Amino acid sequence: MNKFIFKDEVEEPTNNKKLSKAKVWRVLVVDDDESVHQVTRLVLADAEIEYRKLDIVSVYSSSEAKALLTKDNNFCMAFVDVVMETDHAGLELVEWIRNELKNQDIRLVLRTGQAGSAPEARVIRDFDINDYKEKTDFTSGKMITTVYAGIRAYRDIMTIKRSLDAFKQLIKATHDLLKINQFRQFGSAALNHLLTLMDVESSALYIARTKIDFDDQSSNFIIACTGKYTCQTDDFESSTIDEDVKRLIQRAFEEKQHITSDGYFVGYYQTSSNASSVLYIEFDDDGENFKANLAELFATNVALILESLAHQQEVERTQKELLYIVGEAIEARSENKGAHVRRVALICELLAKKLQLKEDFIEAIRLAAPLHDLGKLGIPERILQKEGKLTEEEWEIMKTHTSIGCELLKKSSVGVSKLAAKLALYHHENWDGSGYPEGLTGVNIPIEARIMAIADVFDSLGSSRSYKSPWVIDDIRDFMASDKGKKFDPQLISLLMENFEEFCQIRQQYPDK
Ligand code: C2E
Ligand code: SIN
Ligand code: FE
Repeated sequence: MNKFIFKDEVEEPTNNKKLSKAKVWRVLVVDDDESVHQVTRLVLADAEIEYRKLDIVSVYSSSEAKALLTKDNNFCMAFVDVVMETDHAGLELVEWIRNELKNQDIRLVLRTGQAGSAPEARVIRDFDINDYKEKTDFTSGKMITTVYAGIRAYRDIMTIKRSLDAFKQLIKATHDLLKINQFRQFGSAALNHLLTLMDVESSALYIARTKIDFDDQSSNFIIACTGKYTCQTDDFESSTIDEDVKRLIQRAFEEKQHITSDGYFVGYYQTSSNASSVLYIEFDDDGENFKANLAELFATNVALILESLAHQQEVERTQKELLYIVGEAIEARSENKGAHVRRVALICELLAKKLQLKEDFIEAIRLAAPLHDLGKLGIPERILQKEGKLTEEEWEIMKTHTSIGCELLKKSSVGVSKLAAKLALYHHENWDGSGYPEGLTGVNIPIEARIMAIADVFDSLGSSRSYKSPWVIDDIRDFMASDKGKKFDPQLISLLMENFEEFCQIRQQYPDK
């Protein structure tokens, strides 16, 4: 891609404010006749296309043209005389430009003084040129028309090439980004790719907002920043970012939509029901909205990758931090070597599905369920493994497994373990208020804990314990049904009864050894 097709102009400032001073259309004139150069400059002196003036560069022979083009190939258009050093010097130059220099983009207009020497029909057929003019016939009006048409064609070719290049890079970027599994690394890689696409020095910020728990508290953090934004902290609110820019970013989060304007683009991306992100980018010049469109496309792509990354990380972190520790630790201290932990997770998931809770909440319950008895880590083995009934005193100690579990879990900032803390604390509460540790009633007991209670008892009754033998399935059904509205949430018991076979299948799939 020709990055520097518009060269910096060093001319005097102009009064026209909109006229772009920095960028010009470069036109090459190749002719051995000085008067042709003068006329061309005169005629095109005031020409202006999309607020850009022309910069006309003169060379006087085919060989001079080749020498220049070999060093500096960035012209949108060239007027080429046919007869110069030889009768066909111009025709050879055109062939050289297309085939040797391999420049297919420059618009080429042949000009001839002697029409007979190179007949128009043959030349336009055999040579890759865009127009063919006889000098006598090339009035100033026609020249201007030809220049406008040529430069617009060139502009369109460049736009297409830019888009193609951008798409190729987009695919490459996506490919690269998919391999990254660290947020911060991902953020800076994504921004760097974006700025390469933008083809300019831009400044950009990428901010993510995640709900850290399930009661709607959000926090914003900076994933990546470039250009004039350098961030010492990843906390957005306390960062030194311009107040105006902060407000724009907040607005995008609140209105849940993109904000576009001349100098910037603010993209809003919902990555999952509890995470969203905002991309803020400043551009210097974006007449055709090309960069804004590209930024949007790119950021949508990035948001999709980010979503799967976030999902993957949440699951991985949670499982690493908690599930394995607990699985191993509790199993080691328990007499029962069965698959109780795994089954209660699946039973909770199934109940939550039947209740049609939101998908990521169901997922969180499934992940948190194995932790509900974490507090048993704090109960002496002589009580846990006692073969008979517990004494009054032992029972008081046993009941503390709920609050011990909660204390251990609530310290973590991971959403799933906060949920697990509630499960641990409330999974022995009863619908009628007769449970422990707080004696909560009805809907005052969190829904996840009401689900957990049913899954726990349903599965424990069928399992072997140090203090009891497994129950047969009919007894389990009767017990669960008879405690509807006493121990258990009546609506959930209805769901359990309606789908009883499905719940029993989970027990059969993961039997105790
Ligand atoms: P767990 O063994 O995982 O049992 C979980 C829940 O399933 C119990 O909560 C209870 O609601 C229900 N459950 C289990 N087995 C039976 C049973 O044979 N009959 C009835 N009606 N319900 C049953 P709970 O009662 O709050 O007990 C919490 C934990 O305390 C139990 O977890 C177990 O670890 C321990 N535990 C309870 N009772 C005894 C006991 O008599 N001896 C011993 N060694 N431990 C006990
Ligand atoms: C558990 O519930 O996590 C296993 C321990 C038990 O059921 O006694
Ligand atoms: Fe328990």
